[in-house]
Amino acid sequence: MESLLSEVVSYVLRESGEDISKYDDSFLLKSIEKRIITLGVHSKREYLSLLISSKEECLALNGTLTVCYSEFFRNSLTFAYLEKLVLPALFSFKNRLKQKEIRIWSAACASGQEAYSLAILCEELIATSTSVLSYRIIATDIDPEQVEKAEKGVYSTDMVGNINLKRLHNYFVKQGDNYLVSKKIKNRVFVSQFDLLSKDAYCPPSSIFGDFDIVFCSNLLFYFKPLYRNSIIRKISKCISADAYLVTGETERAFMFELGFTEVFPNSAIFQMTKKDK
Ligand SMILES: C[S@@+](CC[C@H](N)C(=O)[O-])C[C@H]1O[C@@H](n2cnc3c(N)ncnc32)[C@H](O)[C@@H]1O
Repeated sequence: MESLLSEVVSYVLRESGEDISKYDDSFLLKSIEKRIITLGVHSKREYLSLLISSKEECLALNGTLTVCYSEFFRNSLTFAYLEKLVLPALFSFKNRLKQKEIRIWSAACASGQEAYSLAILCEELIATSTSVLSYRIIATDIDPEQVEKAEKGVYSTDMVGNINLKRLHNYFVKQGDNYLVSKKIKNRVFVSQFDLLSKDAYCPPSSIFGDFDIVFCSNLLFYFKPLYRNSIIRKISKCISADAYLVTGETERAFMFELGFTEVFPNSAIFQMTKKDK
């Protein structure tokens, strides 16, 4: 199996310029098996012969490796903890310190649902408080198509199924069959392209200096080998405020436990993180 994977990796690299060796082996294998079913090929060896002779297939396989699925308020327990406990505590802490802004980074934002869900929670907190505290959400993704969608903030009816009617009414504008995020939250979300594995920058240039209080890196880590997962977590730890929160996806909690992080609340996928300067 190892030799099959290394051959696939080298053909895809040659034909597409993309180094897919960063992806977790079991994810790569599953993706190859899906292509085998889609193409009606009979074995992994037969698939390899096809891959060798077809640049299109190299590109097609590579294309299946970027999974962009997202949802508003994905993982309801995580968002409930954020809404009821984490964000209120952070707002009052910042108020006490007379700081002006809460800074959040949605680090693999796909088409923006995560970032706008967080913006809705922040707006609701601000609406019930007398403080002058503001918030800023930096939303980044490696995929320019996702960045464009997140910037547009237009979602079909089935994509807003997780949003209750009150929030839909307060934070979206109906546009034909679609829903457009309102200016109120769009103005607080700054979308740009950023590769979490790039060696050039330690935090998104659009954030200037990072200093994030909350970083969402959810449903991304599990696609990568441990070396790459750890490098992403190290990168995030350099651009946070002194004691910040890192939020992962539900299935990624195990990686965080392995690295010695402790969950702030059981099953929350919210971890406290200490800033690392190096
Ligand atoms: C499954 S989506 C997760 C979206 C959202 N965080 C969520 O939990 O719903 C994974 C996203 O990670 C992005 N991605 C993949 N590799 C990346 C990288 N190296 N840097 C930044 N984003 C990346 C993909 O383009 C995709 O939009």
